[in-house]
Amino acid sequence: GTGKGNEIRVWCDGCYDMVHFGHANSLRQAKALGDKVIVGIHTDEEITKHKGPPVFTEEERVKMVKGIKWVDEVVLGAPYVTTLEVLDQNNCDFCVHGDDITMTAEGVDTYHLVKSANRYKEVKRTAGVSTTDLVGRMLLLTRNHFRQGSAEYDIEKEESTAKLLKLQQLQSRLGSSNMGQDSSAKSPWTGCSQFLPTTQKIIQFSDGKSPNPSDKIVYVAGAFDLFHVGHLDFLEKASKLGDYLIVGLHTDPVVNSYKGSNYPIMNLHERVLSVLACKFVNEVVIGAPYCVTEELLDHFKIDIVCHGRTPIAMEDGKIDPYAVPKTRAIFELLDSGNEMTTERIVERIISHRLEY
Ligand code: CTP
Ligand code: C5P
Repeated sequence: GTGKGNEIRVWCDGCYDMVHFGHANSLRQAKALGDKVIVGIHTDEEITKHKGPPVFTEEERVKMVKGIKWVDEVVLGAPYVTTLEVLDQNNCDFCVHGDDITMTAEGVDTYHLVKSANRYKEVKRTAGVSTTDLVGRMLLLTRNHFRQGSAEYDIEKEESTAKLLKLQQLQSRLGSSNMGQDSSAKSPWTGCSQFLPTTQKIIQFSDGKSPNPSDKIVYVAGAFDLFHVGHLDFLEKASKLGDYLIVGLHTDPVVNSYKGSNYPIMNLHERVLSVLACKFVNEVVIGAPYCVTEELLDHFKIDIVCHGRTPIAMEDGKIDPYAVPKTRAIFELLDSGNEMTTERIVERIISHRLEY
């Protein structure tokens, strides 16, 4: 490699707006092609110039990418067209991108320079997940939600038709969505097609390390739907309370029972991958019970259980899901210091929809 000894430094760049496990999977593949992964992120200004304003700010986008476990360094301000200079400045040997063509506002292949210099490698894009698809699910979610309303039905119906139209425009513009084409893969909650999970993918995403006998084990549980900066800040704080962090993910019906409407937007398998890609997480319980039980605490030898700044919903409106860890005096409330929620993301998407 260039620069730093024999180390192979791999450059990846992009918008990384609404980071999902497809992005994480491309960074995982990039890591396998070298030793270090350096991610260049476009500024809000640069993205606005080429494809309209991003949903998330550059600070949020940087934080999300830094939270992915295969990422070694993050650089804000990567040019939209990848240059040889930017590779050299960052001591990178080559650039890695998914096998889709990306263009500037002028219709130039953003990788033409690195391609002709033979400093470009391609990885497979992850099928079944994209920002377009996730935005589509959120718009459909609000449409279905509106249908349940009564008084303002007509106005909202009109509004939802406009949304669907926008969605179709968005789909045809990006030409990358596979929404609603395979009815067998539709989510019962969002009506959209989705990623097909395999054990292989879970193995690739997990680090496979079990805790050491002396490790202090921390447990948290939740929906972790549309994995976001609030989750990230919370998990970072939780991981610092011990040596090994286990995240319990509630099943889709459980999440639906306390979030209502058409939540969750991502199904359990998708949420598993999003959480596994986070560098603070060691293990995930796929379909954790809503109430933290004696059995669960003993089975995983959990030393501390915590919950973040969001309200705790009681099971059947009366049972505290943390009653057992509270009795054992191993429960702690943690303030993530971050106000992001899945609902806020949905609100942002809706207020941004005119730009899509
Ligand atoms: N990527 C991927 N699989 C996906 C989505 C993105 O491998 N399902 C990769 C892209 O190929 C790129 C990197 O993630 O190498 C970051 O690119 P970015 O510009 O952020 O992604 P988009 O292609 O815009 O992602 P999306 O379509 O989800 O908006
Ligand atoms: O809402 P959800 O179940 O996805 O949250 C998972 C965990 O993350 C909860 O403990 C919640 O309180 C915490 N969280 C947080 N700050 C946020 C969002 C979530 O502490 N902004």
